[in-house]
Amino acid sequence: MSSYDVIIIGSGPGGYVSAIRCAQLGLKTACVEGRETLGGTCLNVGCIPSKAMLHATHMLHEAEHNFADMGLKGKSPSVDWNQMLAYKQKTVDTNTKGIEFLFKKNKIDWIKGWATVPEPGKVKVGDDIHEAKHIIIATGSEPASLPGVEVDEKVVVTSTGALTLNKVPKKLVVIGAGVIGLELGSVYARLGSEVTIVEFLDAITPGMDGEVQKSFMKLLKKQGINFVMGAAVQRTDATKTKAKVTYKLRKDDSEHVLDADVVLVATGRKPFYDGLGLDGLGIELTKRGQIAVNDHWQTSVNGIYAIGDVIEGPMLAHKAEDEGMAVAEVVAGKHGHVNYGVIPGVIYTHPEVANVGATEEQLKEAGRAYKVGKFSFMGNARAKAVFAGDGFVKIIADKETDRILGAHIIGPAAGDLIHEVCVAMEFGASAEDLAMTCHAHPTYSEAVREAALACGDGPIHM
Ligand code: FAD
Ligand code: NAI
Repeated sequence: MSSYDVIIIGSGPGGYVSAIRCAQLGLKTACVEGRETLGGTCLNVGCIPSKAMLHATHMLHEAEHNFADMGLKGKSPSVDWNQMLAYKQKTVDTNTKGIEFLFKKNKIDWIKGWATVPEPGKVKVGDDIHEAKHIIIATGSEPASLPGVEVDEKVVVTSTGALTLNKVPKKLVVIGAGVIGLELGSVYARLGSEVTIVEFLDAITPGMDGEVQKSFMKLLKKQGINFVMGAAVQRTDATKTKAKVTYKLRKDDSEHVLDADVVLVATGRKPFYDGLGLDGLGIELTKRGQIAVNDHWQTSVNGIYAIGDVIEGPMLAHKAEDEGMAVAEVVAGKHGHVNYGVIPGVIYTHPEVANVGATEEQLKEAGRAYKVGKFSFMGNARAKAVFAGDGFVKIIADKETDRILGAHIIGPAAGDLIHEVCVAMEFGASAEDLAMTCHAHPTYSEAVREAALACGDGPIHM
């Protein structure tokens, strides 16, 4: 039996970041991970492999669509699928090995295996029982299931199977027009699959700014992605090589069937805590089945904390990381803090989509007076030079005080541009503060400044 100040269960972005911060704060730390490699969903089957596939297929798209216009003539590249998968795996391996290195560097013990918590202060892995003053649960999430849809990870797949298909499907049906459906749908559309996305609601990416939703869908349609909106999937019927997807249109209850070589189920994820023994410990859950925590990420049981996808809030790697650092500070007797009002969200399609803070829809509902500054990338010289003039930056500020309340960007490098607004919001800045900051020319960032200018006397290049 070994004894630790902290044992963290799960080595995803929540768990591994927390482990590193705990060790940096002088705590004797171990992290239990049941997978063969560290890094959790994000590094192994989530953020990292999906971004590698998005990058590779975006390069293909550029070669096919824009190279000739720039005077780069010749045959566009053909796809070596196995090599693309090998590139993706190499990217994953480099990152997971990187975490192993960081664990060694910070003297964190990796306890290999699946953990249970038989009682507070104890963590059981295999036949070994380890003692810990503090336990942090960071066990993440898994794909939510859908009634009538049986996943085999070959023909009917979740994102995990979609990242390791043995060939590019001719016809891909995606259930759910959320983040996973749109990112992986884009990957396969660029590879030549006929992609149809079936969505229950009438708009894609629920919760996102309405103008962005519309513009985003229009651009994705232009890229050849088909959408069936307002459709409730009833069931899938699969053989070893094909599937049929039956859905009902909500407007008239009519039933329709789509043929597919592969069906991707992307209808959300749910917290994962199987086998931990939460019932026996009396750990309380929220109504939505997440582990309930207080402001210090403490569960209903003293000394047991939880962070990341397994608790409430957006299921995002950086949200889990922030909680990982903050809870480490708490267990080390310091003050941990996460500003939940300033957590950006990014969709890594082309163009990228990014948001932070409030949407117009939310502010209207709350009855808050606001103003909007908008600037199109068509007015941005750099974007136009690289065939990236689609999209816009939209900044929302308080009508009276000019304080920035939110930003919504669809366009080139949106996922990077959003952080300028995040920093501004952290400092309680006004749109005028952003507008008065000198921005280098020619950069995409100028579009952010122009949107800020549009909150006041108006943009220059529009
Ligand atoms: P996880 O990363 O899920 O890690 C939990 C770990 O705990 C797992 O490795 C699991 O094996 C381990 N574990 C569970 N139970 C036990 C146990 N009893 N004992 C031992 N180990 C256990 N988010 C973004 O911010 N950006 C993105 O681009 C992005 N892309 C994504 C793409 C896809 C396809 C998917 C599926 C998700 C994506 N996400 C993205 C979401 C992101 O992956 C999650 O929000 C993030 O991984 C959550 O981190 P976590 O530490 O809470 O849990
Ligand atoms: P999601 O919650 O983003 O989207 C699910 C979609 O499926 C919604 O549009 C919903 O209306 C629809 N839906 C639900 N039931 C349906 C049904 N029966 N028929 C048709 N449509 C249905 O979930 P998704 O895409 O599975 O992603 C899961 C999580 O992973 C997200 O919370 C996201 O935060 C995270 N993620 C983040 C990424 C990023 O940050 N870039 C990338 C990928 C995933």
